[in-house]
Amino acid sequence: MDYGIKGETALVLGGSKGLAFACAQALVEAGVRVAINGRNAADGEAAVAKLGYGAVFIQGDLGEAGKTAATIDAARRALGSIHILVTNAGGPPPGQFDEHGIDVWRRALEVNMLAAVEAVQRVLPDMRAAHFGRIVNITSFVVKEPYPNMALSNSIRVALTGAMSTLAREAAGDGITVNNILPGLMDTGALQRVIDARVRKQGKTEAQVRDEMAKSVPMQRLGTAEDFGPLCAFLCSKHASYITAQNIAVDGGLVRGLI
Ligand SMILES: NC(=O)c1ccc[n+]([C@@H]2O[C@H](COP(=O)([O-])OP(=O)(O)OC[C@H]3O[C@@H](n4cnc5c(N)ncnc54)[C@H](OP(=O)(O)O)[C@@H]3O)[C@@H](O)[C@H]2O)c1
Repeated sequence: MDYGIKGETALVLGGSKGLAFACAQALVEAGVRVAINGRNAADGEAAVAKLGYGAVFIQGDLGEAGKTAATIDAARRALGSIHILVTNAGGPPPGQFDEHGIDVWRRALEVNMLAAVEAVQRVLPDMRAAHFGRIVNITSFVVKEPYPNMALSNSIRVALTGAMSTLAREAAGDGITVNNILPGLMDTGALQRVIDARVRKQGKTEAQVRDEMAKSVPMQRLGTAEDFGPLCAFLCSKHASYITAQNIAVDGGLVRGLI
């Protein structure tokens, strides 16, 4: 399928591993020139080597002051104006409402909401000038159904969802779409941290926890990064120009809601 975005430019935040890396891969396959970001430089360089097609890595912790702005600037220097933005970072730590102090809440807000808001604010002028823009935020199925022991994610993802829903309507007239993809239980880094926490808390083996999780999904398995990337590329394609303000779960039927 021709996605109609060959030669376009994309920045994938937190794109060196896992689900966002799968987005970057799918975008490269669609002919998009891609910059990815992450904290670990060795992982980032390995990721761009795997992506090929002139992909560049921009090192930076999105939770640190000034790093989101610096990442956008570096992406522009490497690729020119940015017309596709995928926002992502590692999820906040698992835990109950009162398990983490306010500093951990504040950091989660910085990394998982405010970095996305700032990145979008900084690329919107490029997108408006081109009368073409695609924003995809990787959030979580928890915006539809809060998950146990995930107080930070259950809270902060919802705030980002509200912000992006607002923006989607404001930017629609400029040829810009804004959508969120909601991973379910996907076998990548964030879920591994949840599994590790459950092993510690419940005294079960990792195999037991994985088996229970897989059985909780109607598809009877955990999702994979390969289940995820193609939707991201489609939402960035020319064909998705009338799809905006949507929250699309890739969760094997995990969330039982009607809509
Ligand atoms: N996997 C799931 O089942 C699941 C379910 C619901 C929601 N989610 C959410 O979906 C997102 C992606 O999950 P994933 O499993 O793909 O995660 P992952 O495998 O841990 O990958 C996270 C990516 O973000 C980068 N990153 C992490 N923190 C960062 C920071 N502060 N600044 C810049 N880059 C950062 C990581 O690279 P470095 O470590 O080198 O920085 C890596 O490239 C997460 O927000 C997660 O909570 C995942």
